Amino acid sequence: MSNQELTFGEEEFIVSKTDLNGKITYGNSLFIEMSGYDELSLLDKPHNILRHEDMPSVVFKLLWSRIKEGKEIFAYVKNKTKNGDFYWVFAHVTPSFDTDRKISNYHSVRRKPTQKALDVIKPLYATLLQKEKTGGINVSEAALNQLLKEKGVSYDEFILSL
Ligand SMILES: Cc1cc2nc3c(=O)[nH]c(=O)nc-3n(C[C@H](O)[C@H](O)[C@H](O)COP(=O)(O)O)c2cc1C
Repeated sequence: MSNQELTFGEEEFIVSKTDLNGKITYGNSLFIEMSGYDELSLLDKPHNILRHEDMPSVVFKLLWSRIKEGKEIFAYVKNKTKNGDFYWVFAHVTPSFDTDRKISNYHSVRRKPTQKALDVIKPLYATLLQKEKTGGINVSEAALNQLLKEKGVSYDEFILSL
């Protein structure tokens, strides 16, 4: 397995859409290219096909609770490609609504993260992951909330300040 970091251009966007269960229904050409899979292998697959084991689960827990409530979220995510390479993204994930205001699907647009943000996120995620491995997701969630409390900011304020 390769373990190289891949990057993409500052002016580029990685886009995907999922159904209500997080199964991929669309990926733009950059999404497909970065993933290392061909389009047919991605469509209808759970989005966690790209999940990297360095990602703390608490980030995805927060993501799903927010989008299921009909709200948007921003998150830094490390993704794994088919051959084990990885790439970091700054993701915006949001629900789409049908005419009855019911959530119909989900949509994500990702940009290249800044080094300045990754310098904060990488050690934070490493800490959260460690806590998850030893104490479970409740412990990492408590640690994240404690950090935000100490800083006196919400998750959104923290993420958007990086
Ligand atoms: C629109 C959308 C985009 C997503 N994009 C990613 C992604 O790029 N990488 C990723 O690991 N998870 C992504 N997720 C979250 C996955 O659905 C999943 O929760 C995550 O990979 C963790 O896997 P698990 O829930 O099986 O633990 C996305 C979810 C949605 C709704």
